[in-house]
Amino acid sequence: MTADVAGRAAEPRPIERHVWPTTAGLTPDGELTLAGLTATELARDFGTPAFVLDEQHFRDRARLFRDSFSEAFGAFGAEVDVYYAGKSFLSVAVARWAREEGLRVDTCTGGELAVALRAGVPGAEIGLHGNNKSDDEITRAIEAEVGRIVVDSFAEIDRVAELARAAGRDARVPVMVRVTTGIHAGGHEFISTAHEDQKFGVSLTGGQALAALEAVLEHPELELLGAHTHIGSQIQDAAAFEANARKMLALRAELQAVTGYLLPELDLGGGYGIAYVPSETPIDVPALARDLAAVVGSVCDELGTPVPRISIEPGRSVVGSTTVTLYTVGVVKPVTLEDGSVRTYVSVDGGMSDNIRPALYEAEYTARLANRTGSAETVAARVVGKHCESGDIVISDIELPADVARGDLLAVPATGAYGRSMASNYNHVLRPPVVAVVDGAARVIVRRETEDDLLSLDVG
Ligand code: LLP
Repeated sequence: MTADVAGRAAEPRPIERHVWPTTAGLTPDGELTLAGLTATELARDFGTPAFVLDEQHFRDRARLFRDSFSEAFGAFGAEVDVYYAGKSFLSVAVARWAREEGLRVDTCTGGELAVALRAGVPGAEIGLHGNNKSDDEITRAIEAEVGRIVVDSFAEIDRVAELARAAGRDARVPVMVRVTTGIHAGGHEFISTAHEDQKFGVSLTGGQALAALEAVLEHPELELLGAHTHIGSQIQDAAAFEANARKMLALRAELQAVTGYLLPELDLGGGYGIAYVPSETPIDVPALARDLAAVVGSVCDELGTPVPRISIEPGRSVVGSTTVTLYTVGVVKPVTLEDGSVRTYVSVDGGMSDNIRPALYEAEYTARLANRTGSAETVAARVVGKHCESGDIVISDIELPADVARGDLLAVPATGAYGRSMASNYNHVLRPPVVAVVDGAARVIVRRETEDDLLSLDVG
C-alpha cells in the first residue's frame, strides 16, 4: 500500500460496479485490473492512450438485450430482432461478437456497411440507415441484399425504388420508413432525434408518415417491412419509449384502416441510457423490456391487431460500459482561480481527439488512478488533454489523490460508445487502439494509428 502525504495508508476506493466493466477489479495494492490484467501491464504492452474493451461484458450485454426482449415480447407471441447500432463502436471483431450473441448489425453509412460485411455478417442481418444516403451506399446495400433499408424522406423512397430497378434485382427491397413521433427524450439536444425541428425521418403530423408508408406500397420494387423510430440517446426514462410505441402502433392501425396493409414490423430504435458517473443509474434492461412489451401488448389488444415483430437498436447500452480509456498523466499543474482556491490541472496524453463528448455534449465522466492507490487526501482536479484548445477537457471537476504525478495511469470508464467511433486526428494526434481483454488475455482489435498512416493520406 502506498502511504498518503500524511503518512497514512490510503484504502483503495472501491470500484463503482455500474460504471466499470464487469471484470474490473483491484489488486491488493489498489491497482486497477481488467479481465485479470493490470493497468500497468496493459499500458506497457499496448501504450497509452488506449481503449481497453472487456469482451465478456460486451457479449453479456448483447445477450441480455436479446434474451430480455425476446422473452418479454415472446409472452405476447411476437419475435424480436436486436440490431447492434454500429455507430456507437464498430469493428470486425465486435460485429462478429454481436452476431455470435444473436444480434444483427445496424449501419448508417457505406463505411459501417463495409465493416459489417467484412466481419461476415450476412446482408440479411444488416440494416442501413441515414438521412442522406448516397446512390452508391443504397446500391451497395441493395447488392448486399441487406435485411432493411430505412428510408428517411419521400425523395428517398423514389430513389431506392429507382436504384432497385437499376440493380435488376428480382426480389423486392425490404424497406422501413423512419418516423418522427414528436417525442422528445434523452440527454443533450444534439442527441435527441424524434422531436419535430430536426433532420431525421418523416413526421407523424399532417399525415406525412402515413403518406410515406402509402408511397412505399405503391412501388413494386419495394417491400414495406414496417415503420422505424428512434427518439434519442442516453434515455433513462421508460415512459418516453412507451409513449413512442403507442404512437407507432396507432400509425400502424391507421395504415391498416386506410389501405388494409398491416405492417409486419416496428423498429423502436435505440437510446437506452447507461451510467457514466457513479450518481447515475443505468436503465434496467429486463424491466424496460417487460414494461414496453406490456404496453405494446395491451395497445394491440385495444386496437384488435396482432403484436408486430419488434426490432430495437441499442448501441451505447451494449458497448458503453465495456470500455475504459487508459491515459498516462503528464503535466500536473496547480492553477489558482479567481476566488483564490486552487484547481489541479492533470494533463493526459489524449483528450478531445479520443473523447469529444465532454466538449460536444458537456458529457460527464469519472476516473481513477489506475496504477496504484493514491494518497487519501484529494485535490479538486480537472483532467485535460494535450490538444491546443482550452475546451479540451476530459473531466471538468473531479477529486483526485493529491499525489497524482507524471507517469501515473488514469483510467476513465464508460468510453466504449462514441469514443473511438467519434475520434479524430485533431492536431495530427494518432487515434488510440482498441484492445480487447478476456480471461487474462489481451489482443488488439483496432491498432493504434501511426504517423505513416497520417502521412499516407497527405499526397504533397
Ligand atoms: N438507431 C438510430 C437510428 C440512431 O440514430 C442511433 C443513435 C441508435 C440507434 C443508437 O443509439 P444508442 O443506443 O447508442 O443511444 N454521439 C452521441 C450519440 C448519437 C446517437 C446517434 N444515433 C453521443 O455520443 O452521445
